[in-house]
Amino acid sequence: MAKMEVKTSLLDDMIGVGDMVLLEPLNEDSFINNLKKRFDHNEVYTYIGSVVISINPYRSLPIYTPEKVEEYRNRNFYELSPHIFALSDEAYRSLRDQDKDQCILITGESGAGKTEASKLVMSYVAAVCGKGAEVNQVKEQLLQSNPVLEAFGNAKTVRNDNSSRFGKYMDIEFDFKGDPLGGVISNYLLEKSRVVKQPRGERNFHIFYQILSGASEEFLCKLKLERDFSRYNYLGLDSARVNGVDDASNFRTVRNAMQIVGFMDHETQSVFEVVAAVLKLGNIEFKPESRANGLDESKIKDKNELKEICELTGIDQSVLERAFSFRTVEAKQEKVSTTLNVAQAYYARDALAKNLYSRLFSWLVTRINESIKAQTKVRKKVMGVLDIYGFEIFEDNSFEQFIINYCNEKLQQIFIELTLKEEQEEYIREGIEWTHIEYFNNAIICDLIENNQTGILAMLDEECLRPGTVTDDTFLEKLNQVCATHQHFESRMSKCSRFLNDTSLPHSCFRIQHYAGKVLYQVEGFVDKNNDLLYRDLSQAMWKANHSLIKALFPEGNPAKINLKRPPTAGSQFKASVATLMKNLQTKNPNYIRCIKPNDKKAAHIFNEALVCHQIRYLGLLENVRVRRAGYAFRQPYEPCLERYKMLCKQTWPHWRGPARAGVEVLFNELRIPEEEFSFGRSKIFIRNPRTLFKLEDLRKQRLEDLATLIGKIYRGWKCRTRFLLMKKCQVVIASWYRRYAQQKKYQKIKSSAITVQSYIRGWKARKLLRELKHLKRCNEAATVIAAYWHGTQARRELRRLKDDARNKHAIAVIWAFWLGYKVRREYRKFFRANAGRKIYEFTLQRLMQKYFLEMKNKMPSLSPIDKNWPARPYLFLDSTHKELKRIFHLWRCKKYRDQFTDQQKLIYEEKLEASELFKDKKALYPASVGQPFQGAYLEISENPKYKKLKDAVDEKIIIAEVVNKINRANGKAASRIFLLTKNNVLLADQKSGTIKSEVPLGDVTKVSMSSQNDGFFAVHLKEGSEAASKGDFLLSSDHLIEMATKLYRTTLSQTKQKLNIEISDEFLVQFKQDKVCVKFIQGSQKNGNIPTCKRKNNRLLEVAVP
Ligand SMILES: Nc1ncnc2c1ncn2[C@@H]1O[C@H](COP(=O)(O)OP(=O)(O)OP(=O)(O)O)[C@@H](O)[C@H]1O
Ligand SMILES: [Mg+2]
Repeated sequence: MAKMEVKTSLLDDMIGVGDMVLLEPLNEDSFINNLKKRFDHNEVYTYIGSVVISINPYRSLPIYTPEKVEEYRNRNFYELSPHIFALSDEAYRSLRDQDKDQCILITGESGAGKTEASKLVMSYVAAVCGKGAEVNQVKEQLLQSNPVLEAFGNAKTVRNDNSSRFGKYMDIEFDFKGDPLGGVISNYLLEKSRVVKQPRGERNFHIFYQILSGASEEFLCKLKLERDFSRYNYLGLDSARVNGVDDASNFRTVRNAMQIVGFMDHETQSVFEVVAAVLKLGNIEFKPESRANGLDESKIKDKNELKEICELTGIDQSVLERAFSFRTVEAKQEKVSTTLNVAQAYYARDALAKNLYSRLFSWLVTRINESIKAQTKVRKKVMGVLDIYGFEIFEDNSFEQFIINYCNEKLQQIFIELTLKEEQEEYIREGIEWTHIEYFNNAIICDLIENNQTGILAMLDEECLRPGTVTDDTFLEKLNQVCATHQHFESRMSKCSRFLNDTSLPHSCFRIQHYAGKVLYQVEGFVDKNNDLLYRDLSQAMWKANHSLIKALFPEGNPAKINLKRPPTAGSQFKASVATLMKNLQTKNPNYIRCIKPNDKKAAHIFNEALVCHQIRYLGLLENVRVRRAGYAFRQPYEPCLERYKMLCKQTWPHWRGPARAGVEVLFNELRIPEEEFSFGRSKIFIRNPRTLFKLEDLRKQRLEDLATLIGKIYRGWKCRTRFLLMKKCQVVIASWYRRYAQQKKYQKIKSSAITVQSYIRGWKARKLLRELKHLKRCNEAATVIAAYWHGTQARRELRRLKDDARNKHAIAVIWAFWLGYKVRREYRKFFRANAGRKIYEFTLQRLMQKYFLEMKNKMPSLSPIDKNWPARPYLFLDSTHKELKRIFHLWRCKKYRDQFTDQQKLIYEEKLEASELFKDKKALYPASVGQPFQGAYLEISENPKYKKLKDAVDEKIIIAEVVNKINRANGKAASRIFLLTKNNVLLADQKSGTIKSEVPLGDVTKVSMSSQNDGFFAVHLKEGSEAASKGDFLLSSDHLIEMATKLYRTTLSQTKQKLNIEISDEFLVQFKQDKVCVKFIQGSQKNGNIPTCKRKNNRLLEVAVP
């Protein structure tokens, strides 16, 4: 029953007490017991007023579901069980509705759950604030910045598998409606020493392992990395794999997150290149080398790794190598170079790796900020979430722990100040008298560290800047002098005799009593880490890199911007950023989440009381409760108070009509609560002692039970009466139904008896009637049968008579018809025989022709003129018709074919036809020419600049332009000539120079001779006595003889109207000057392939051998 109840206060179903303020009695044991009791019941959150204590459950609890988000949404802080969502909701609503900037301060030691808490706050706010595509993108980018920063800034430590090694403060910005606009992240002091060395059992930053496990082979190859962790000196190997952590899939998550946040592909690539370079730097090793002048010098052992780093980062190898071997100190105008020994070289290498990585990390934060920054300039409301490293006490505490613990001191101080301030303000607001509260103020410790003159940080800076030899010991000495008398400073060397014999305090250490406990600091490394020096040679080498990201990380390496002033020390930088942070936090409304770690084993269900007790002490939680309770332990606005307890007084139950405050007054008077136990504020009632509240709660519980009994009683009475009334009503209904049923039965019985009697009488009557009717019917039937027989006999007799009559009439008609037919046939026989033969013949012939043409129609061959197919002749008598039809069809399809020709094609075919008439079956060369198109102008005289001279000399249209061989009559050798045929002339020109050698008018050409064989020789005979004939006839050979001869023939015909004589003979005479030489064509061997050879045999004979 209780579980079904709707919660209206955190007091409902409380395990232990949900708000420590109500703890009674209040001491350390009860405090821890209460936490333990709640922890064992999975209640990991507990309040101290508005502060949330969160105990790390080390397992996933089903309390962060979307349903839970809905449950806590828009509910008052104390309405439901304590939860981080309640605090987030309160902060968000106060930001949205009251316009108050908020900050959420999450503190606790390493592994206590701060980062998880900060993510829960962010995801809650993201779930409840505005929606819409743009807003969702902003939210997604804000949330996705976490995996990126965690990959680069978190590492596995002995305390936490995902320990944040940097401080983070994130401002989420909202518009007036409460929709997120963007954010700004600030980061504090990355623990960069981890890059080069990790304590036992710890790992380097996650990203190194993620990249080696998750990147593809191809990507690793690009980064010049190998998958094997053991290849890298910088990777602590004893816990390279962490249980429950999948580095490979985390790598994918990180890349995806980088994409969502808005990293461009080339930026992501550069970031991983820098990570790879850092990893590879660790593999550079040095060996000593002594120089003649006795100075120690170091040398890189294996330059391969250096080479790969330089390839990856675009640094000149010699520059980097030099930077690892020399150190240049510049003072005023002077430059002094000294060599580095092996130890110094290693120091330089590690300093470079640390600097590269920490600068890359800061660059990432800046880059993320660029992506997530609010795009509008409207006024923003801000919610800051601070997840900063918790107070740390290690076996060896160094500069980092000192800085971290200093930051925690400052946070504690702001916590005390703001809690007290808030308390005080509430009392004033409510008009209640303020009583002074005693508490430990840690301002004194802050002063010990940060005082500008005598603070430890100032001392360290002074030591670092001082000329002369500066060591960690001189620093400690100085501390001993200045801080010796400070209450919270302890050192064996100090003048204070208290610690002279304290063996727990080594000589090289100092101890500070922090608010959270005593911490022993090893002074070794303080000066170095505070100086945070990177040799200028290295920063200059980095600046020279051909890698835009690395160049941007080392702006001080730019020789143009050389600054001889020292950069600010790490300590002073941190002090300044903490001061800015504190200032920022003071302007906002604080909300606290105090995280507590239940055990050292990272295990669920284990609650180590000693460990928790230690944390409670140093977090000052008990003090926090005391401050909260100093005046009044419990306060509540009047309305919910009246609503909760109104059943305790007759006047207020069940309704109070009037102001809530008056109701509460009446209630408290009626209950006789002593006056010193409570106070009436303006809007709240303040209860001094938790006892009073619990008494009220007890009374309420008692009264609720009474009320429950009363309600039960009335309910049962009501239920019985309703049941009785229902039964009564049922009884009446049943009785009436039964009566009706009985009457129905009786009626049915009487009715059936009457029907039976009636039916018997009707039956008897019917049978009697039936008998009579049957007799009558039988008499009628007998009469009918007798009549039928009589009629049948009569009818048959009549039928027989009629049939005989009809047979006689038919016989007469048939005989008459036969007789008529016979007479007619005898009359017409002579006419019929004379015409029938011719008619049958004509008819048959017509039918055959018809059949012939119809069949022909279906068997027609194709329209191609060269198709030789023609259907077979069906009848001999159609032979001539069939042939004629074939001829006509062929002529017709040839015409069809010709009709398609263009004028140009017609010309070509005319020429081809001419050639066929001249040479077909006469010259063996002819068939090969049929398929060749006649081009005429084989040489492009007008286009080719080589023939410009020739072109200029010939102004007529050129019909043939081709290279021919002119046969030398003396020896039969051939020389190339250009043969030109124009409308009026034949020209021969030199092939190279284009000079015209001979020009013959067409009228002077008398004949052309050639053989009947497969060769291209031909002679052009000239008219005797003409000018051209003086040198004799031309003997030429050409590849296009048929075409040339045809064109020559046609041109001559058209110009001179005379047919050129073309002689085809294997022996003809050619006029050479005065002599006539016989050119004879014989069948030759195929010695020279297919080329005919020409030889002068004697004075009168030139023999051409044609293969
Ligand atoms: N609310 C929670 N529910 C379940 N597990 C949790 C919760 N809070 C913390 N954890 C577990 O505890 C581990 C440590 O938490 P977290 O990283 O938040 O510690 P931290 O306080 O940020 O430590 P550090 O100071 O080292 O960064 C987480 O990895 C997670 O496994
Ligand atoms: Mg963390």
